[in-house]
Amino acid sequence: MSAGPYVGALDQGTGGTRFVVFDGDGSPVSSAYTTHNTVTPDVDRVEYDPLKLWGCATDTIRRVLVRADVEADRLRALGVSSQRQTVLLWEAATGRPVANALSWQDRRTADRIAALDAEDRQLIRSRTGLEPDPYFAAPNAQWLLDNGDAATGDGKPGFGDSAGTALRERAAAGNVLVGTVDSWLLYNLTGTHATDVTNAAQTMLFDIHAREWDDDLLDLFGVPRAALPTVHPSSDPTGFGETDPDGILGAAVPVTGVMGDQQAALLGRVGADRDAAKVTYGTGNFFLQHTGTEAPDADSKLLSTVWFQRAGSGPLYGLEGPVFATGTLLEWLRSVGFLERADGFDRLGPTAPRGPVQVVPGFGGLGAPYWVPGVDTAVLGVTRNTDADAVVRAAVRAIAFATRTVVDAAEAATGVDHDRLLVDGGAIQHDEFAQWQADLLGRRLVRSEVTQTTALGAGFAAGLAADVWDSIDDLDRCRTEGRTFTPSAESDAVEAAYRRWQTAVDAVAGIHG
Ligand code: G3P
Repeated sequence: MSAGPYVGALDQGTGGTRFVVFDGDGSPVSSAYTTHNTVTPDVDRVEYDPLKLWGCATDTIRRVLVRADVEADRLRALGVSSQRQTVLLWEAATGRPVANALSWQDRRTADRIAALDAEDRQLIRSRTGLEPDPYFAAPNAQWLLDNGDAATGDGKPGFGDSAGTALRERAAAGNVLVGTVDSWLLYNLTGTHATDVTNAAQTMLFDIHAREWDDDLLDLFGVPRAALPTVHPSSDPTGFGETDPDGILGAAVPVTGVMGDQQAALLGRVGADRDAAKVTYGTGNFFLQHTGTEAPDADSKLLSTVWFQRAGSGPLYGLEGPVFATGTLLEWLRSVGFLERADGFDRLGPTAPRGPVQVVPGFGGLGAPYWVPGVDTAVLGVTRNTDADAVVRAAVRAIAFATRTVVDAAEAATGVDHDRLLVDGGAIQHDEFAQWQADLLGRRLVRSEVTQTTALGAGFAAGLAADVWDSIDDLDRCRTEGRTFTPSAESDAVEAAYRRWQTAVDAVAGIHG
Protein backbone atom coordinates (compact mmCIF):
# COMPACT_ATOMS: atom_id res chain seq x y z
CA MET A 1 0.00 0.00 0.00
CA SER A 2 1.22 3.50 -0.85
CA ALA A 3 2.32 5.79 1.94
CA GLY A 4 0.03 8.56 3.14
CA PRO A 5 -1.18 11.17 3.44
CA TYR A 6 -4.61 9.60 3.13
CA VAL A 7 -7.93 11.29 2.59
CA GLY A 8 -11.28 9.62 3.25
CA ALA A 9 -14.29 10.37 1.05
CA LEU A 10 -17.84 9.49 2.04
CA ASP A 11 -20.27 9.63 -0.89
CA GLN A 12 -23.92 9.08 -0.01
CA GLY A 13 -25.76 8.87 -3.34
CA THR A 14 -29.33 8.02 -4.18
CA GLY A 15 -28.79 4.30 -4.51
CA GLY A 16 -26.11 3.70 -1.91
CA THR A 17 -23.19 4.84 0.22
CA ARG A 18 -19.56 4.60 -0.85
CA PHE A 19 -16.49 5.23 1.26
CA VAL A 20 -13.07 5.48 -0.37
CA VAL A 21 -9.62 6.07 1.07
CA PHE A 22 -7.42 7.93 -1.42
CA ASP A 23 -3.68 8.42 -1.24
CA GLY A 24 -1.80 11.62 -2.07
CA ASP A 25 -1.83 10.72 -5.79
CA GLY A 26 -5.61 10.50 -5.77
CA SER A 27 -5.46 6.72 -6.20
CA PRO A 28 -8.08 4.70 -4.34
CA VAL A 29 -6.48 2.56 -1.64
CA SER A 30 -9.67 0.83 -0.62
CA SER A 31 -13.39 1.31 -1.01
CA ALA A 32 -16.75 -0.25 -0.18
CA TYR A 33 -20.34 0.33 -1.21
CA THR A 34 -23.64 -0.36 0.56
CA THR A 35 -27.02 -0.02 -1.14
CA HIS A 36 -29.90 1.95 0.40
CA ASN A 37 -33.51 1.00 0.79
CA THR A 38 -35.97 3.64 -0.27
CA VAL A 39 -39.48 3.77 1.14
CA THR A 40 -42.16 4.34 -1.51
CA PRO A 41 -45.48 4.59 0.33
CA ASP A 42 -47.29 5.95 -2.74
CA VAL A 43 -46.65 6.51 -6.44
CA ASP A 44 -45.40 10.05 -6.00
CA ARG A 45 -43.57 9.46 -2.71
CA VAL A 46 -39.94 8.48 -2.21
CA GLU A 47 -38.46 8.54 1.29
CA TYR A 48 -35.51 7.28 3.32
CA ASP A 49 -35.26 6.30 6.94
CA PRO A 50 -32.57 8.80 8.09
CA LEU A 51 -31.18 6.41 10.71
CA LYS A 52 -30.65 3.78 8.03
CA LEU A 53 -28.83 6.32 5.86
CA TRP A 54 -26.50 7.04 8.74
CA GLY A 55 -26.21 3.30 9.47
CA CYS A 56 -25.12 2.69 5.85
CA ALA A 57 -22.47 5.38 6.27
CA THR A 58 -21.05 3.89 9.48
CA ASP A 59 -21.05 0.30 8.15
CA THR A 60 -19.33 1.32 4.94
CA ILE A 61 -16.67 3.40 6.70
CA ARG A 62 -15.91 0.55 9.10
CA ARG A 63 -15.56 -2.01 6.31
CA VAL A 64 -13.10 0.15 4.40
CA LEU A 65 -10.91 0.99 7.35
CA VAL A 66 -10.61 -2.66 8.31
CA ARG A 67 -10.00 -3.79 4.73
CA ALA A 68 -7.45 -1.06 3.98
CA ASP A 69 -5.72 -1.57 7.28
CA VAL A 70 -5.60 2.21 7.71
CA GLU A 71 -6.07 3.55 11.20
CA ALA A 72 -8.52 6.44 11.16
CA ASP A 73 -5.95 8.72 12.77
CA ARG A 74 -3.88 8.36 9.62
CA LEU A 75 -6.60 10.12 7.63
CA ARG A 76 -5.47 13.70 7.14
CA ALA A 77 -9.00 14.82 6.27
CA LEU A 78 -12.47 13.64 5.36
CA GLY A 79 -14.63 14.76 2.44
CA VAL A 80 -18.39 14.27 2.16
CA SER A 81 -20.37 14.27 -1.07
CA SER A 82 -24.05 13.43 -1.24
CA GLN A 83 -27.23 13.36 -3.27
CA ARG A 84 -28.53 16.90 -3.39
CA GLN A 85 -32.02 18.28 -2.59
CA THR A 86 -33.14 15.39 -0.34
CA VAL A 87 -34.36 17.00 2.88
CA LEU A 88 -34.49 15.91 6.51
CA LEU A 89 -35.71 17.28 9.86
CA TRP A 90 -34.20 16.26 13.16
CA GLU A 91 -34.21 17.25 16.82
CA ALA A 92 -31.33 19.62 17.62
CA ALA A 93 -30.81 18.28 21.12
CA THR A 94 -30.85 14.57 20.43
CA GLY A 95 -30.26 14.22 16.70
CA ARG A 96 -33.38 12.08 16.43
CA PRO A 97 -35.12 12.36 13.05
CA VAL A 98 -38.58 13.89 13.13
CA ALA A 99 -39.76 12.02 10.05
CA ASN A 100 -38.45 10.18 7.04
CA ALA A 101 -36.24 12.08 4.61
CA LEU A 102 -38.04 13.25 1.47
CA SER A 103 -35.98 12.27 -1.55
CA TRP A 104 -35.23 14.51 -4.52
CA GLN A 105 -37.26 11.91 -6.44
CA ASP A 106 -40.37 12.59 -4.33
CA ARG A 107 -43.10 14.46 -6.21
CA ARG A 108 -45.77 15.03 -3.51
CA THR A 109 -45.23 18.79 -3.72
CA ALA A 110 -46.06 19.10 -7.42
CA ASP A 111 -49.25 21.02 -6.54
CA ARG A 112 -47.29 23.45 -4.38
CA ILE A 113 -45.01 24.21 -7.31
CA ALA A 114 -47.95 24.49 -9.71
CA ALA A 115 -49.48 27.08 -7.37
CA LEU A 116 -46.51 29.45 -7.63
CA ASP A 117 -47.39 32.60 -9.56
CA ALA A 118 -45.30 34.21 -12.29
CA GLU A 119 -43.69 36.63 -9.82
CA ASP A 120 -42.65 33.80 -7.48
CA ARG A 121 -41.22 31.85 -10.39
CA GLN A 122 -39.20 34.82 -11.55
CA LEU A 123 -37.96 35.38 -7.99
CA ILE A 124 -36.83 31.77 -7.77
CA ARG A 125 -35.06 31.87 -11.14
CA SER A 126 -33.29 35.16 -10.51
CA ARG A 127 -32.09 34.41 -6.97
CA THR A 128 -31.38 30.69 -7.11
CA GLY A 129 -30.68 30.04 -10.81
CA LEU A 130 -33.09 27.09 -10.58
CA GLU A 131 -36.26 26.14 -12.43
CA PRO A 132 -39.22 25.85 -10.01
CA ASP A 133 -39.83 22.12 -9.56
CA PRO A 134 -40.65 19.64 -6.77
CA TYR A 135 -37.13 18.24 -7.35
CA PHE A 136 -35.67 20.87 -5.02
CA ALA A 137 -35.58 20.84 -1.21
CA ALA A 138 -37.68 23.96 -0.51
CA PRO A 139 -41.21 22.61 -1.13
CA ASN A 140 -40.36 19.31 0.57
CA ALA A 141 -39.01 21.14 3.63
CA GLN A 142 -42.25 23.11 3.70
CA TRP A 143 -44.28 19.90 3.45
CA LEU A 144 -42.36 18.31 6.31
CA LEU A 145 -42.74 21.38 8.50
CA ASP A 146 -46.48 21.51 7.70
CA ASN A 147 -47.16 17.83 8.21
CA GLY A 148 -44.73 16.96 10.95
CA ASP A 149 -44.56 13.56 12.55
CA ALA A 150 -46.48 10.51 11.54
CA ALA A 151 -46.72 11.88 8.04
CA THR A 152 -44.13 9.85 6.24
CA GLY A 153 -43.46 6.18 5.69
CA ASP A 154 -46.24 3.91 6.85
CA GLY A 155 -47.79 6.57 9.04
CA LYS A 156 -46.28 5.37 12.32
CA PRO A 157 -45.84 8.06 14.95
CA GLY A 158 -42.67 10.06 14.44
CA PHE A 159 -39.43 9.10 16.04
CA GLY A 160 -38.80 12.43 17.70
CA ASP A 161 -40.15 14.51 20.53
CA SER A 162 -42.14 16.80 18.28
CA ALA A 163 -45.47 14.97 18.24
CA GLY A 164 -48.34 17.30 18.92
CA THR A 165 -46.28 20.46 18.82
CA ALA A 166 -46.04 23.04 16.08
CA LEU A 167 -42.99 21.85 14.23
CA ARG A 168 -42.38 25.15 12.49
CA GLU A 169 -42.39 26.94 15.85
CA ARG A 170 -39.81 24.51 17.18
CA ALA A 171 -37.75 24.98 14.03
CA ALA A 172 -37.96 28.76 14.42
CA ALA A 173 -36.57 28.36 17.93
CA GLY A 174 -33.70 26.27 16.59
CA ASN A 175 -34.94 23.12 18.33
CA VAL A 176 -35.72 21.28 15.13
CA LEU A 177 -33.14 21.43 12.36
CA VAL A 178 -33.64 21.31 8.60
CA GLY A 179 -30.91 20.06 6.31
CA THR A 180 -29.93 18.13 3.22
CA VAL A 181 -28.10 14.78 3.35
CA ASP A 182 -24.65 16.39 3.71
CA SER A 183 -25.86 18.27 6.81
CA TRP A 184 -27.36 15.12 8.28
CA LEU A 185 -24.08 13.26 7.82
CA LEU A 186 -22.06 16.19 9.20
CA TYR A 187 -24.31 16.49 12.23
CA ASN A 188 -23.69 12.82 12.97
CA LEU A 189 -19.99 12.95 12.18
CA THR A 190 -18.97 16.20 13.86
CA GLY A 191 -22.02 17.62 15.68
CA THR A 192 -22.03 20.78 13.53
CA HIS A 193 -25.08 22.06 11.66
CA ALA A 194 -23.38 23.06 8.43
CA THR A 195 -23.56 22.70 4.67
CA ASP A 196 -21.56 23.94 1.70
CA VAL A 197 -22.43 26.34 -1.12
CA THR A 198 -22.95 23.60 -3.71
CA ASN A 199 -25.56 21.80 -1.63
CA ALA A 200 -27.21 25.05 -0.50
CA ALA A 201 -27.39 26.15 -4.15
CA GLN A 202 -29.70 23.21 -4.89
CA THR A 203 -32.28 23.87 -2.16
CA MET A 204 -34.21 26.71 -3.89
CA LEU A 205 -33.76 28.76 -0.70
CA PHE A 206 -30.29 30.12 -1.41
CA ASP A 207 -29.27 33.23 -3.32
CA ILE A 208 -26.35 32.04 -5.45
CA HIS A 209 -25.22 35.62 -6.14
CA ALA A 210 -25.21 36.92 -2.55
CA ARG A 211 -24.37 33.40 -1.32
CA GLU A 212 -26.75 33.39 1.63
CA TRP A 213 -30.17 32.03 2.57
CA ASP A 214 -32.72 34.30 0.96
CA ASP A 215 -35.38 35.83 3.25
CA ASP A 216 -37.99 36.16 0.48
CA LEU A 217 -37.65 32.48 -0.40
CA LEU A 218 -37.62 31.42 3.26
CA ASP A 219 -40.92 33.31 3.63
CA LEU A 220 -42.36 31.85 0.44
CA PHE A 221 -41.74 28.28 1.61
CA GLY A 222 -42.18 28.88 5.35
CA VAL A 223 -38.74 27.65 6.34
CA PRO A 224 -37.30 29.34 9.46
CA ARG A 225 -33.74 30.59 9.05
CA ALA A 226 -32.82 29.40 12.56
CA ALA A 227 -33.36 25.79 11.50
CA LEU A 228 -30.99 25.96 8.52
CA PRO A 229 -27.29 25.08 8.52
CA THR A 230 -24.45 27.56 8.26
CA VAL A 231 -23.16 27.70 4.69
CA HIS A 232 -19.43 27.30 4.11
CA PRO A 233 -17.16 27.07 1.07
CA SER A 234 -16.89 23.49 -0.21
CA SER A 235 -13.23 23.23 0.74
CA ASP A 236 -12.84 24.72 4.19
CA PRO A 237 -10.23 23.89 6.87
CA THR A 238 -12.42 24.72 9.87
CA GLY A 239 -16.13 25.16 9.00
CA PHE A 240 -17.33 21.56 9.19
CA GLY A 241 -15.71 20.48 12.45
CA GLU A 242 -13.90 17.26 13.23
CA THR A 243 -15.08 13.78 14.01
CA ASP A 244 -15.67 12.76 17.59
CA PRO A 245 -12.82 10.52 18.86
CA ASP A 246 -15.51 8.44 20.60
CA GLY A 247 -17.59 8.20 17.43
CA ILE A 248 -17.53 6.05 14.33
CA LEU A 249 -13.94 6.79 13.30
CA GLY A 250 -12.51 6.54 16.80
CA ALA A 251 -10.28 9.53 15.98
CA ALA A 252 -10.55 13.29 15.55
CA VAL A 253 -10.39 13.71 11.78
CA PRO A 254 -11.25 17.13 10.34
CA VAL A 255 -14.01 17.21 7.73
CA THR A 256 -12.63 19.78 5.29
CA GLY A 257 -14.57 19.10 2.10
CA VAL A 258 -18.34 18.97 1.50
CA MET A 259 -19.97 18.99 -1.92
CA GLY A 260 -23.12 18.00 -3.77
CA ASP A 261 -22.38 14.78 -5.62
CA GLN A 262 -22.70 16.15 -9.15
CA GLN A 263 -20.49 19.11 -8.40
CA ALA A 264 -17.99 16.77 -6.73
CA ALA A 265 -17.97 14.60 -9.87
CA LEU A 266 -17.05 17.71 -11.88
CA LEU A 267 -14.14 18.43 -9.53
CA GLY A 268 -13.11 14.80 -9.94
CA ARG A 269 -12.75 15.47 -13.68
CA VAL A 270 -12.08 19.19 -14.17
CA GLY A 271 -9.96 21.87 -12.56
CA ALA A 272 -9.38 25.39 -13.84
CA ASP A 273 -10.42 24.42 -17.38
CA ARG A 274 -13.38 26.76 -17.98
CA ASP A 275 -16.09 25.48 -20.35
CA ALA A 276 -15.17 21.84 -19.70
CA ALA A 277 -18.25 19.71 -19.07
CA LYS A 278 -19.05 16.26 -17.75
CA VAL A 279 -22.01 13.91 -17.80
CA THR A 280 -22.38 11.47 -14.91
CA TYR A 281 -24.66 8.48 -15.52
CA GLY A 282 -26.22 7.54 -12.18
CA THR A 283 -29.79 7.43 -10.96
CA GLY A 284 -30.26 10.15 -13.54
CA ASN A 285 -27.90 11.70 -16.09
CA PHE A 286 -26.34 14.90 -14.86
CA PHE A 287 -24.64 17.31 -17.27
CA LEU A 288 -22.53 20.01 -15.59
CA GLN A 289 -20.32 22.60 -17.25
CA HIS A 290 -17.75 24.86 -15.58
CA THR A 291 -18.79 28.36 -16.68
CA GLY A 292 -16.35 30.47 -14.64
CA THR A 293 -16.66 33.05 -11.89
CA GLU A 294 -19.97 34.55 -13.03
CA ALA A 295 -23.31 32.77 -12.74
CA PRO A 296 -24.62 31.84 -16.20
CA ASP A 297 -27.94 33.12 -17.53
CA ALA A 298 -30.81 31.48 -15.66
CA ASP A 299 -33.36 31.61 -18.51
CA SER A 300 -32.07 28.68 -20.51
CA LYS A 301 -34.21 25.90 -18.96
CA LEU A 302 -30.96 24.58 -17.52
CA LEU A 303 -29.81 25.36 -13.99
CA SER A 304 -27.34 27.98 -12.98
CA THR A 305 -25.50 26.79 -9.89
CA VAL A 306 -22.35 27.01 -7.76
CA TRP A 307 -20.10 24.04 -8.35
CA PHE A 308 -17.07 24.76 -6.15
CA GLN A 309 -15.60 27.24 -3.71
CA ARG A 310 -12.38 27.17 -1.73
CA ALA A 311 -12.17 29.08 1.54
CA GLY A 312 -10.61 32.45 0.77
CA SER A 313 -11.63 32.39 -2.92
CA GLY A 314 -14.75 33.26 -4.82
CA PRO A 315 -17.21 30.65 -6.10
CA LEU A 316 -17.05 28.85 -9.43
CA TYR A 317 -20.35 28.62 -11.26
CA GLY A 318 -21.74 25.99 -13.56
CA LEU A 319 -24.60 25.23 -15.92
CA GLU A 320 -26.40 22.01 -15.07
CA GLY A 321 -28.83 19.81 -16.97
CA PRO A 322 -30.34 17.13 -14.71
CA VAL A 323 -32.20 14.26 -16.40
CA PHE A 324 -34.14 12.53 -13.64
CA ALA A 325 -34.79 8.89 -14.34
CA THR A 326 -32.26 6.93 -16.34
CA GLY A 327 -30.58 4.60 -13.84
CA THR A 328 -34.00 4.43 -12.18
CA LEU A 329 -35.38 3.17 -15.47
CA LEU A 330 -32.79 0.38 -15.59
CA GLU A 331 -33.60 -0.55 -12.00
CA TRP A 332 -37.26 -0.83 -12.91
CA LEU A 333 -36.44 -2.98 -15.95
CA ARG A 334 -34.47 -5.24 -13.65
CA SER A 335 -37.25 -5.39 -11.07
CA VAL A 336 -39.76 -6.62 -13.67
CA GLY A 337 -37.28 -9.10 -15.09
CA PHE A 338 -36.76 -7.37 -18.47
CA LEU A 339 -33.12 -6.57 -17.87
CA GLU A 340 -31.67 -9.71 -16.35
CA ARG A 341 -28.21 -8.88 -17.52
CA ALA A 342 -26.65 -5.79 -19.04
CA ASP A 343 -27.22 -7.16 -22.55
CA GLY A 344 -29.35 -4.21 -23.50
CA PHE A 345 -26.21 -2.11 -23.63
CA ASP A 346 -24.50 -4.45 -26.02
CA ARG A 347 -27.15 -4.40 -28.71
CA LEU A 348 -26.92 -0.77 -29.68
CA GLY A 349 -24.33 -0.90 -32.43
CA PRO A 350 -25.08 0.75 -35.77
CA THR A 351 -26.30 -2.54 -37.25
CA ALA A 352 -28.67 -3.36 -34.42
CA PRO A 353 -32.32 -3.47 -35.43
CA ARG A 354 -34.27 -0.43 -34.30
CA GLY A 355 -37.92 -1.16 -33.79
CA PRO A 356 -40.62 1.41 -33.37
CA VAL A 357 -40.65 1.19 -29.57
CA GLN A 358 -39.87 4.42 -27.71
CA VAL A 359 -39.35 4.80 -23.98
CA VAL A 360 -39.77 8.16 -22.27
CA PRO A 361 -38.26 7.91 -18.77
CA GLY A 362 -40.40 9.80 -16.26
CA PHE A 363 -41.09 8.22 -12.86
CA GLY A 364 -42.75 11.36 -11.60
CA GLY A 365 -41.44 14.11 -13.84
CA LEU A 366 -39.26 15.29 -16.67
CA GLY A 367 -36.23 17.36 -15.74
CA ALA A 368 -34.14 19.60 -17.97
CA PRO A 369 -34.95 21.06 -20.39
CA TYR A 370 -38.67 20.15 -20.15
CA TRP A 371 -39.53 20.59 -16.44
CA VAL A 372 -42.90 18.85 -16.44
CA PRO A 373 -43.74 17.33 -13.03
CA GLY A 374 -46.09 14.35 -12.93
CA VAL A 375 -44.86 12.56 -16.04
CA ASP A 376 -44.76 8.79 -15.61
CA THR A 377 -42.52 6.59 -17.72
CA ALA A 378 -44.12 5.81 -21.07
CA VAL A 379 -43.48 2.92 -23.43
CA LEU A 380 -44.85 3.77 -26.86
CA GLY A 381 -45.11 1.91 -30.14
CA VAL A 382 -45.63 -1.57 -28.73
CA THR A 383 -46.67 -4.08 -31.43
CA ARG A 384 -47.62 -7.74 -31.25
CA ASN A 385 -44.01 -8.55 -31.99
CA THR A 386 -42.51 -6.36 -29.29
CA ASP A 387 -40.55 -8.38 -26.76
CA ALA A 388 -38.69 -7.50 -23.57
CA ASP A 389 -35.47 -7.01 -25.54
CA ALA A 390 -37.04 -4.33 -27.71
CA VAL A 391 -38.18 -2.43 -24.62
CA VAL A 392 -34.74 -2.71 -23.03
CA ARG A 393 -33.04 -1.45 -26.19
CA ALA A 394 -35.44 1.47 -26.41
CA ALA A 395 -34.84 2.28 -22.73
CA VAL A 396 -31.06 2.25 -23.13
CA ARG A 397 -31.33 4.44 -26.22
CA ALA A 398 -33.53 6.84 -24.22
CA ILE A 399 -30.69 7.34 -21.74
CA ALA A 400 -28.45 8.47 -24.59
CA PHE A 401 -31.19 10.62 -26.17
CA ALA A 402 -31.87 12.40 -22.90
CA THR A 403 -28.19 13.28 -22.61
CA ARG A 404 -28.21 14.67 -26.14
CA THR A 405 -31.13 16.96 -25.20
CA VAL A 406 -29.28 18.62 -22.32
CA VAL A 407 -25.98 18.86 -24.20
CA ASP A 408 -27.76 20.60 -27.10
CA ALA A 409 -29.54 22.94 -24.66
CA ALA A 410 -26.24 23.82 -22.97
CA GLU A 411 -24.55 24.56 -26.28
CA ALA A 412 -27.45 26.77 -27.32
CA ALA A 413 -27.30 28.61 -23.97
CA THR A 414 -23.55 29.16 -23.76
CA GLY A 415 -22.40 29.09 -27.39
CA VAL A 416 -19.67 26.66 -26.30
CA ASP A 417 -19.23 23.83 -28.79
CA HIS A 418 -18.20 20.76 -26.83
CA ASP A 419 -16.07 18.79 -29.22
CA ARG A 420 -14.98 16.75 -26.20
CA LEU A 421 -17.20 15.70 -23.29
CA LEU A 422 -16.10 14.01 -20.09
CA VAL A 423 -18.27 11.06 -19.08
CA ASP A 424 -18.37 8.86 -16.01
CA GLY A 425 -20.73 6.78 -13.88
CA GLY A 426 -22.36 3.39 -14.32
CA ALA A 427 -24.06 3.04 -17.72
CA ILE A 428 -21.23 4.62 -19.67
CA GLN A 429 -18.86 1.82 -18.59
CA HIS A 430 -20.49 -0.28 -21.33
CA ASP A 431 -18.39 0.24 -24.45
CA GLU A 432 -21.22 -0.31 -26.93
CA PHE A 433 -23.35 2.24 -25.16
CA ALA A 434 -20.51 4.76 -24.91
CA GLN A 435 -19.88 4.42 -28.65
CA TRP A 436 -23.57 4.84 -29.43
CA GLN A 437 -23.67 7.92 -27.21
CA ALA A 438 -20.63 9.37 -29.02
CA ASP A 439 -22.31 8.73 -32.39
CA LEU A 440 -25.51 10.36 -31.22
CA LEU A 441 -23.72 13.40 -29.79
CA GLY A 442 -21.29 13.65 -32.70
CA ARG A 443 -18.63 14.43 -30.11
CA ARG A 444 -15.65 12.69 -28.59
CA LEU A 445 -16.40 11.20 -25.19
CA VAL A 446 -13.60 10.82 -22.70
CA ARG A 447 -14.31 8.29 -19.99
CA SER A 448 -12.65 8.55 -16.60
CA GLU A 449 -10.14 5.89 -15.61
CA VAL A 450 -11.35 6.15 -12.00
CA THR A 451 -14.98 5.07 -11.70
CA GLN A 452 -15.47 6.81 -8.34
CA THR A 453 -15.18 10.37 -9.65
CA THR A 454 -17.71 11.73 -7.16
CA ALA A 455 -15.80 10.42 -4.16
CA LEU A 456 -12.58 11.64 -5.76
CA GLY A 457 -14.01 15.15 -6.03
CA ALA A 458 -15.03 15.09 -2.36
CA GLY A 459 -11.55 13.83 -1.49
CA PHE A 460 -9.99 16.63 -3.55
CA ALA A 461 -12.12 19.27 -1.79
CA ALA A 462 -11.03 17.89 1.59
CA GLY A 463 -7.38 17.43 0.64
CA LEU A 464 -7.08 20.96 -0.76
CA ALA A 465 -8.11 22.38 2.61
CA ALA A 466 -5.78 20.03 4.49
CA ASP A 467 -2.62 20.72 2.47
CA VAL A 468 -2.58 17.32 0.79
CA TRP A 469 -2.72 19.28 -2.47
CA ASP A 470 -1.64 22.91 -2.94
CA SER A 471 -3.92 24.15 -5.65
CA ILE A 472 -6.59 23.18 -8.16
CA ASP A 473 -3.80 22.85 -10.74
CA ASP A 474 -2.00 20.40 -8.47
CA LEU A 475 -5.00 18.07 -8.78
CA ASP A 476 -4.42 17.63 -12.52
CA ARG A 477 -1.65 15.11 -11.88
CA CYS A 478 -4.14 12.94 -9.98
CA ARG A 479 -6.77 12.75 -12.74
CA THR A 480 -6.42 9.91 -15.21
CA GLU A 481 -8.45 9.79 -18.36
CA GLY A 482 -9.55 6.44 -19.70
CA ARG A 483 -10.81 5.44 -23.10
CA THR A 484 -11.90 8.01 -25.68
CA PHE A 485 -14.88 7.23 -27.94
CA THR A 486 -14.81 9.01 -31.30
CA PRO A 487 -18.08 9.39 -33.23
CA SER A 488 -18.37 7.34 -36.38
CA ALA A 489 -18.60 9.41 -39.53
CA GLU A 490 -22.08 8.40 -40.63
CA SER A 491 -24.77 9.03 -38.07
CA ASP A 492 -27.92 9.75 -40.11
CA ALA A 493 -29.79 6.73 -38.78
CA VAL A 494 -28.96 7.67 -35.19
CA GLU A 495 -30.09 11.23 -35.85
CA ALA A 496 -33.41 10.04 -37.28
CA ALA A 497 -33.96 7.83 -34.23
CA TYR A 498 -33.31 10.85 -31.99
CA ARG A 499 -35.90 12.94 -33.85
CA ARG A 500 -38.48 10.16 -33.40
CA TRP A 501 -37.73 10.02 -29.69
CA GLN A 502 -38.14 13.79 -29.34
CA THR A 503 -41.57 13.51 -30.92
CA ALA A 504 -42.46 10.86 -28.34
CA VAL A 505 -41.26 13.06 -25.45
CA ASP A 506 -43.23 16.03 -26.74
CA ALA A 507 -46.35 13.86 -26.96
CA VAL A 508 -45.92 12.51 -23.41
CA ALA A 509 -45.07 15.94 -21.97
CA GLY A 510 -48.12 17.37 -23.77
CA ILE A 511 -50.43 15.00 -21.90
CA HIS A 512 -49.23 16.41 -18.57
CA GLY A 513 -48.22 19.96 -19.50
O1 G3P B 1 -29.79 15.74 -7.77
C1 G3P B 1 -29.77 14.40 -7.44
C2 G3P B 1 -28.39 13.89 -7.57
O2 G3P B 1 -27.55 14.56 -6.69
C3 G3P B 1 -28.36 12.40 -7.41
O3 G3P B 1 -27.20 11.90 -7.88
O4 G3P B 1 -25.50 10.16 -8.17
O5 G3P B 1 -27.30 9.83 -6.55
O6 G3P B 1 -27.76 9.73 -8.97
P1 G3P B 1 -26.94 10.29 -7.88
